[in-house]
Amino acid sequence: MTERGRDHPGAHHQDQGNTHDGAAHLWDEMYRTCPRIWSGKPNPQLVREAAGLKPGRALDLGCGEGADALWLAEQGWTVTAVDVSAVALERAVAHAAEAKYGPRITWVQQDLAAWQPEAEFDLVSAQFLHSPALPWQQSLKAAASAVRPGGTLLIVGHHPDRLPPWGSHISADMLFTPEQLAFELHPTKPGWRLDVAASRERTVDGPDGQRATIADAVLRATREDGWL
Ligand SMILES: C[S@@+](CC[C@H](N)C(=O)[O-])C[C@H]1O[C@@H](n2cnc3c(N)ncnc32)[C@H](O)[C@@H]1O
Repeated sequence: MTERGRDHPGAHHQDQGNTHDGAAHLWDEMYRTCPRIWSGKPNPQLVREAAGLKPGRALDLGCGEGADALWLAEQGWTVTAVDVSAVALERAVAHAAEAKYGPRITWVQQDLAAWQPEAEFDLVSAQFLHSPALPWQQSLKAAASAVRPGGTLLIVGHHPDRLPPWGSHISADMLFTPEQLAFELHPTKPGWRLDVAASRERTVDGPDGQRATIADAVLRATREDGWL
């Protein structure tokens, strides 16, 4: 995530995240701690991986304050952007209202623990969808199921071995390596071509301006035709 150094709520609110309402409450409360949580810039792995794709219909899962959805819309994508937090979505809608390509985005409040999108998207992206209320295996499954044949799945998260010092409270079970993502996708879902399974380092600024090198876990895969 293009973070401004916010704590992730995972370790602090785990008891509240077990139900639909709990997930919405948990994330709404996190967003209310600050008028703006994320940087407003698109995530770098999204930019790197999606820049070469032909725009079509994109689904952004856990869209937060909407920077990735806005970037995709600017690139020509028609975007469905989903988040469980009404507070995050209010901010995303406000940003989109000021942006030329904002009308290309449909904002949807849904809990991915209970909602299954149709398999109709050319690109499904989930960026840093780490949540105590949603096992990453479940969000991966929901994301993979929403990719149409020939489409692209892009999952990016914090690599567990390279968290920044200020992120050390994030529970290990909310994190994944690229190898774990690939393993989870492959045996259960024939018809995937693995394009990227990589750990990528980058330098980020922390809450007090301190610099750290972290790593992103990146998986990009193409759903092959003909197995739906
Ligand atoms: C760590 S933030 C990442 C936000 C954004 N993708 C980014 O990279 O800046 C995780 C986002 O996932 C959303 N989220 C968490 N659990 C969810 C669920 N069960 N269904 C839908 N969205 C969820 C949160 O509200 C939050 O906006």
